[in-house]
Amino acid sequence: MTTAPAVWDPQRPSRMPYHRYRPYQDRVHVPAGDRRWPSARIERAPLWVPVDLRDGNQALAEPMDTPRKRRFFDLLVATGFKEIEVGYPSASRTDFDFVRHLVADGAVPDDVTPVVFTPARTDLIDRTFDAIAGLPRTVVHLYIATSPVWRDVVLGRGRDEVWRTVREAAGHMARRAGNAPGVRFQFSPETFNLTEPDFVLELCDGLTELWDASPDRPVIHNLPATVEIATPNVYADQVEYIHRNLSRRGSVILSVHPHNDRGTGVACAELAVLAGAQRVEGCLFGNGERTGNVDLVTLALNLYTQGVDPMVDFGDIDAVRETVEHCNRLPVHPRHPYAGELVHTAFSGTHQDAISKGLAHHARRAAEAGLSEREAPWEVPYLPVDPADLGRSYEAVIRVNSQSGKGGMAYLLSQYAGIDLPPDMRPEFARIVQEATDDSGREATPKELYELFRAAYLTEGAVRLHAWSAHEEAPGVHRFVGTLEAGDRVGDHEGTGACVATAFADALAGAGLAVRILDFTQGPAAAFAKCRVAGVTAWGAGTGPSATVRAVLSAVNRAVR
Ligand code: KIV
Ligand code: ZN
Repeated sequence: MTTAPAVWDPQRPSRMPYHRYRPYQDRVHVPAGDRRWPSARIERAPLWVPVDLRDGNQALAEPMDTPRKRRFFDLLVATGFKEIEVGYPSASRTDFDFVRHLVADGAVPDDVTPVVFTPARTDLIDRTFDAIAGLPRTVVHLYIATSPVWRDVVLGRGRDEVWRTVREAAGHMARRAGNAPGVRFQFSPETFNLTEPDFVLELCDGLTELWDASPDRPVIHNLPATVEIATPNVYADQVEYIHRNLSRRGSVILSVHPHNDRGTGVACAELAVLAGAQRVEGCLFGNGERTGNVDLVTLALNLYTQGVDPMVDFGDIDAVRETVEHCNRLPVHPRHPYAGELVHTAFSGTHQDAISKGLAHHARRAAEAGLSEREAPWEVPYLPVDPADLGRSYEAVIRVNSQSGKGGMAYLLSQYAGIDLPPDMRPEFARIVQEATDDSGREATPKELYELFRAAYLTEGAVRLHAWSAHEEAPGVHRFVGTLEAGDRVGDHEGTGACVATAFADALAGAGLAVRILDFTQGPAAAFAKCRVAGVTAWGAGTGPSATVRAVLSAVNRAVR
């Protein structure tokens, strides 16, 4: 039954043939009872297992060669990953050779376990074991597709035949491993998310038994969302069902392997961990077959920004990104969570304003608490993570284009040139910048902002000051004497006032310019004066030893333009 559209909803039926697709509930049975995952919390990081050197590699137009794989492997080790899928040795010479390279080079640290992937065929299992000879620790990872469509269309085998194939393969693996304590086993029912849950349990429990898993030599059962088919809550229900019904649960490490076909790989992995998964397979920055494997960087940093130790270190995210881009020969999107070039950058004026206020507030709060800014609790508007924690500088945070506001420009000018514009002057400078960026249609760098500031406020105008001097002739009474050039008239003028600026304004009256100073601010790098000249109000700025006088002169020149 279709429901009539609400009166407030003007959308009309599309012409797309959506009726060709079936909802997940018509494709797989999902037992959903008293689910517990909605109220669970993630309080520690699962075991992350990058599969870039296997799964991701299968999806590259130009597969990684051994030097690139080695660079990637070393990056993963340096980042802190302790279990790394290093290849599918029976599938390609490249993968076989890479595993041999790791052995020959002694490249695997004592606390890292490589994983190798194999299909359920004895000859290919033999080749896999040949590849790992000499590795002190390995997980041998067996997979077979288990869902009805794959069984019927791809394998041409029923449930019993699939179980027989798996049993034979698993038995062969156990014989090849012998008593070697360093070899452990993993099983993946490929297309788990489309498989009948009771069949998954039958296969997994059968293997736990066959491999004689124990708490000190646990088996890994890995539940792939090989192709995403449903919203993440459905995957969570599927994972929770297996978690709660597996036999010898204490001898099983429950793992997940989400892909990202619906763009919900990260959500699937997070909900799966809430549902009982202890291990997550994925790729850095979400590389992998089709739309990719789940992104381990996002997952780890999502935990980090919840105050949970991710157990891997992305403290120099740009270096990680550059290495991965080099190895995969694929770019990471500029808006990729945490790592994209633009993700800590604000262009919009309101955001810039909030961020610059937030950063100043953060600095104050840190000082009050006697903490460094890097240690103080983070709560800055629009920035879910301190860019500095990822090795990013604040320079990239605020960038200016025609959509930007006064706050961002003032912040950048202050960062770049130490010039702190008075708040009241910022709208005027923002208009100058907006005119320039509207004309060029592009972003202004901090250097260009400074150039705009210099051209507007620090260059000579129609009124010029030549030789001049000022002194305090009596307490609180300043005298200014100087040569002024205004148009074609040059003359010596003098004036008095309570300070040098007002004495100069008084001298300007002698040159026919009635100047009233409305506001005056002296900063460490510049002075600023707001003046009213012949009915026009303008700000001016001056730098250097005569900053005060220059600021008034600059305002005058801007008013009489
Ligand atoms: O996506 C998948 O199903 C896999 C497994 C077989 C682990 O890569
Ligand atoms: Zn996969």
